[in-house]
Amino acid sequence: MVVGVHPRVLGYLGRALTLEYSAVQQYMTQTSLVALWGQAEAADRFRRETVEELRHAERIIERMLTLGVAPAASQLRPVRTGSDLYQLLHQDLELEEDLVLLYDEAARFCTVVRDESNGSFFRDLCEEERQHGEDLKEWLGQIDRNGRGGVDQRATF
Ligand SMILES: [Fe+2]
Ligand SMILES: [Fe+2]
Repeated sequence: MVVGVHPRVLGYLGRALTLEYSAVQQYMTQTSLVALWGQAEAADRFRRETVEELRHAERIIERMLTLGVAPAASQLRPVRTGSDLYQLLHQDLELEEDLVLLYDEAARFCTVVRDESNGSFFRDLCEEERQHGEDLKEWLGQIDRNGRGGVDQRATF
């Protein structure tokens, strides 16, 4: 472990990895789910979200390796499904909000212990997840209350 890194910073990285993997699992599941509903466009979009979250996980792994610790996520958060796109996006917003809260707390802690490098790492991720949440809200605004995005769907879950 690199000398001078606060153990709590490593703890935040571990929690972040777990939450990013949970996001990968959630978006990947939603990709398959909406594909089953016949919503190919939404499936493409969830596939892109999955890749984005995977890249976040990759950045965290790189940072942990740089700090000399072995990446180890803990138990993933269970995926929450829904019966339409509207419900899925609401669940995603909650997940993105949790990511923002975690990164914000981690960045603030880094400020307290004067860890500028990890602080800016967490701040960047915080900003990306905040933007991610905004993008999802915009998508949500484009579909109607019944979860239809202009494509026929069958609710099977
Ligand atoms: Fe992420
Ligand atoms: Fe995200």
